[in-house]
Amino acid sequence: HIKACLFDLDGVIVDTAIYHYQAWKRLANELGFDFTEHDNEQLKGVSRTRSLEIILELGGVTQTEAEKEELADRKNKWYVEMIGKMRPDEILPGAKEFVQACRNAGIKTALGSASKNSMMILDKIGMTDLFDAIVDGNKVTKAKPDPEVFLKGAEELGVQPVDCVVFEDAIAGVEAAKAGGMKAVGIGEPAVLKQADIVLPGLSAMTVDKLNEL
Ligand code: G6P
Ligand code: MG
Repeated sequence: HIKACLFDLDGVIVDTAIYHYQAWKRLANELGFDFTEHDNEQLKGVSRTRSLEIILELGGVTQTEAEKEELADRKNKWYVEMIGKMRPDEILPGAKEFVQACRNAGIKTALGSASKNSMMILDKIGMTDLFDAIVDGNKVTKAKPDPEVFLKGAEELGVQPVDCVVFEDAIAGVEAAKAGGMKAVGIGEPAVLKQADIVLPGLSAMTVDKLNEL
């Protein structure tokens, strides 16, 4: 019997990939090369530091650790400027309704995100109070596909991993859920999220009844 649902943020609750993309593209352009929307796919669910490394590899640029830190900070400043303007109408279809439906059914809810900006986004879209636990990039040391972010969430909720369902749009995130012994609902394409127990186009296709069929 499912006791908790854990949600990734970017790509599941909101679509911030576009803001990450615009900020990384601006950085790449300042460094003298381009960065396409296609390249951006590789960055989903990936930490800020690792994302920067991937971009520098694409551009064939090498930087010192100190320079990398400055570049990551520069990108994050632009990103924060953009998410600072986010509004509740940017919540993906069905996301708020499904999280609320879980709560109404007595199922605990948690956020499990790699982003260090999660709190600001939740605040801007007005969903902070819908989560019993929030585990984000500030609380974890190991990035997805390591299960740390979801195991911490389950622990904070006081629920065993086997009684948890994770909602994820990234391959690394689905892997993290499975590595933690949890059920995984993929949000996106079945051909991409092969390890997920089921794959849906979005949370509007999810119901509380479907949780116990997994
Ligand atoms: C999520 C996004 C990634 C992003 C990461 C870190 O996993 O899918 O694209 O790089 O969070 O986000 P942050 O806000 O800490 O830079
Ligand atoms: Mg995601």
